[in-house]
Amino acid sequence: MAKHPIIDDIEKVLVSEEQIEEIVKRISAQIDAYYENRNSRLLLLGILKGSVVFMGDLMKHITVPVEIDFMKVSSYGNGTSSGSINILLDLYRKDFPNTDILIVEDIIDSGKTLSYLVEYLRLKGAKSVRTCTLLDKPERREVNFDADWVGITVPNEFVVGYGLDYDEKYRALPFIGVLKEEVYSQ
Ligand code: IMP
Ligand code: MG
Repeated sequence: MAKHPIIDDIEKVLVSEEQIEEIVKRISAQIDAYYENRNSRLLLLGILKGSVVFMGDLMKHITVPVEIDFMKVSSYGNGTSSGSINILLDLYRKDFPNTDILIVEDIIDSGKTLSYLVEYLRLKGAKSVRTCTLLDKPERREVNFDADWVGITVPNEFVVGYGLDYDEKYRALPFIGVLKEEVYSQ
């Protein structure tokens, strides 16, 4: 069966390849409509590493002209959500005032990463800062934050695939799945 031998570690598929394709088409159409007829530059800003697969699919479907760039951030402490945000790879641009930034994220959990980044990029002088995320886990929110475009809301379970990892594994799976508990506990 397996293109991916690691498929045995997956308990269930939460968002299938077909569902993801529909989400990408819907969000890219909404982005096209929102950003049409602008004179400023549109920058898709992917947050490494989790957003890379979503970013790749999204940029293929968006028809308005886009530029791409990436930032890498981490939060202090362990786990998926903790204290303050650490910028590991910053964004350098000369023309922030003429740039509409659309942050592309894999998942919103506590909300700390995106609320920090939106504020950071506004302070840098970007013309506008909007956010889109493939997945949203609203139950986990620690700060008040809503993305402008959300693919799908997911329950409070740890998910992998389509860019998202557990211990750097499973990013290449073409769907979003939930890991078997034994994978964490061994
Ligand atoms: P937060 O919204 O600042 O808490 O952080 C979101 C980040 O935590 C995401 O970009 C992911 O890297 C990571 N994350 C949160 N939940 C999950 C999950 O279920 N699977 C994989 N990574 C996750
Ligand atoms: Mg991430």
